[in-house]
Amino acid sequence: MAAPHARLFFALWPDRATRRSLAQWQQVLQPTCGGRSMHIDDVHLTLAFLGDMPLELLDSITRAVADVNGSPFNLRVDQVQYWRHNKIVWAGAEEIPPALESMAGDLRDRLTQASIPFDPKPFVPHITLFRNARPTLPLPALPAIEWAVDAFVLVRSTGGAGPRYRVEASWPLDASRASD
Ligand code: 2AM
Repeated sequence: MAAPHARLFFALWPDRATRRSLAQWQQVLQPTCGGRSMHIDDVHLTLAFLGDMPLELLDSITRAVADVNGSPFNLRVDQVQYWRHNKIVWAGAEEIPPALESMAGDLRDRLTQASIPFDPKPFVPHITLFRNARPTLPLPALPAIEWAVDAFVLVRSTGGAGPRYRVEASWPLDASRASD
């Protein structure tokens, strides 16, 4: 019998207030976007996409990232964008905090060092709000959302309809470790 597998990725997982604000963005955008709105409990920002992995590797995966360097930061979500190639409407930030770039880089370096494969496409921080969207452009400006990021998570896809993602493990961003 095949060993159990699961689709895994590392992400930033919005707190309740951020999630509520992103749900308001979805409500405003829905009439002009069409497509399928992401279940609000599934909305996230991917740091590294591992894909289908044997679950027996879970221990090595969590060990590999246990000492990721990162300090808490504020992410100001203030842009809505559309990617024509994959028909995604997403929320993003005009200013990417250096702390986000560096912790995502460190996370990816540690996965590489541990020979854990992930999608090597460059990191473009984005929060998918709609799939199969056909928005009327330009998309409206929306009130900025201040997201206080203080942890990253490992997520498992459970398939089916939303909510379809489950947080498997979480690591705090620890200011005291930022310059290790
Ligand atoms: P997306 O929202 O832009 O599709 C789970 O699928 C998460 O991993 C999504 O946030 C997805 O981004 C992201 N992801 C990154 N690379 C991926 C890939 N090669 N295949 C599927 N999802 C990927």
